[in-house]
Amino acid sequence: MKKSINQALNEQVALEAESSHIYLSMASWAEKNSYHGVANFLYQHSDEERIHMLKLIRFINEREGVAIIPPIKQPKENFKNLSEIFQSVLDHEIYVTNEINKLVEITLKEKDFTTHHFLQWYVSEQLEEEALARQINDRLKLIGNDKMGYYIFDRDLGNIDNALHANETKDK
Ligand code: FEO
Repeated sequence: MKKSINQALNEQVALEAESSHIYLSMASWAEKNSYHGVANFLYQHSDEERIHMLKLIRFINEREGVAIIPPIKQPKENFKNLSEIFQSVLDHEIYVTNEINKLVEITLKEKDFTTHHFLQWYVSEQLEEEALARQINDRLKLIGNDKMGYYIFDRDLGNIDNALHANETKDK
């Protein structure tokens, strides 16, 4: 594996690890604030980011590169409300998509078509993650200040999580 590709993949390893930590901190906040459906969803999301990281590490090793296990900075631990959390999730996922796109561009420049092919999984995953984060934000906007709305939102998010997880397990 070319050094430039190895380095770019390691940067993505670090970003996926950071994403997992960010969502873990959000999940913990939600649990402390009695949003148990949201907490389940975010704990699950954090686990998925760790899987994204592992997938990259194992690919690097398979291609005889050097995978660097990164230090992770402490994420923010306090949030105003659910809107702040899910806006941050969306912003973060948009950022991750841009980074994946840059990675894809590097593989084309370096003519590394194997890594290019491998990254297509991440391209599709980002499409789904961004769409889901947008949907959740739209629902929160509709709820506004309605307390009952938050109760239903929390309950439904736990169910969305179960449905998505069932699909993902089927895909793997
Ligand atoms: Fe692995 Fe949500 O990006």
